[in-house]
Amino acid sequence: MRHKLSIFISFLGLTLFAALAPYQENEAPVVKIFVPQRNDGVSLDEWIPYRITITDMEDGNSEYDEITANDVVLAVQYLPDSSQVAKYLHDGESIDLDVLSWMGSSNCFTCHSAKDKLIGPSFSQIADRYNNRTDALQYLARKITNGTTGTWGNQIMPAQPDLKPDEVKMVLGWILKNSSRPDFNYVSGIEGVFRTPKKIEGKEGKGVFLLMAQYIDHGLENVPESSKKGNDTIVLQVR
Ligand code: HEC
Repeated sequence: MRHKLSIFISFLGLTLFAALAPYQENEAPVVKIFVPQRNDGVSLDEWIPYRITITDMEDGNSEYDEITANDVVLAVQYLPDSSQVAKYLHDGESIDLDVLSWMGSSNCFTCHSAKDKLIGPSFSQIADRYNNRTDALQYLARKITNGTTGTWGNQIMPAQPDLKPDEVKMVLGWILKNSSRPDFNYVSGIEGVFRTPKKIEGKEGKGVFLLMAQYIDHGLENVPESSKKGNDTIVLQVR
């Protein structure tokens, strides 16, 4: 009888422990666009310094250099009228920031930027050159996977065999579609500068810039599928 009772008590204890043990879940990161501030006005064709702060329970804090800068992305969208902001953000017109996050954490921005030539051509130059080619996705996907040189100069893009072919094609489709757009720009990094568009055809320049930042965390240790994203969006008046 005593034996049975002690088994019962240990069973009860274990059940209680399981129920009370904290359910382990990855916390979503908190992303904040710290600079510029919401009330700062910006002009067309201006270099704007920016800084994003990230706090994540598992990955750490950007203030202590614990966040990988390449995993942080910022997109800048011009809208001709501030009344369009809500529609843009809620009607699915908004840009797919996950593609940008993929490019950021795949280190594409070490050598490429949206609008300006770095070591490699800008994504906007690439879009202009290949947009009308029907085999562009297959052709460029092969170049990214195998590496290339000699098309744009004598710099080298090393082979990147670890990238998933489907993801590369999806990202290329996004680059070709979005990179030449004059009303849209994107950068990666916790802090830096981005340039607002020079002149937007047919628009008065009285609109707003929408700044959209994203960070996708690394999830729980050894459980990459538990990763979560954090976002922040601010609206800046165009001066
Ligand atoms: C170490 C620097 C470096 C990295 C990292 C890099 N690239 Fe490149 N990329 C280059 C250079 C340099 C060229 C131009 C090569 C040439 O002239 O053939 C290039 C060319 C390209 C081209 C055009 C190819 C062509 O034949 O016209 C595309 C598209 C491209 N890169 C996409 C990407 C993407 C997407 C990533 C991230 C997954 C990436 N690159 C990462 C340096 C890099």
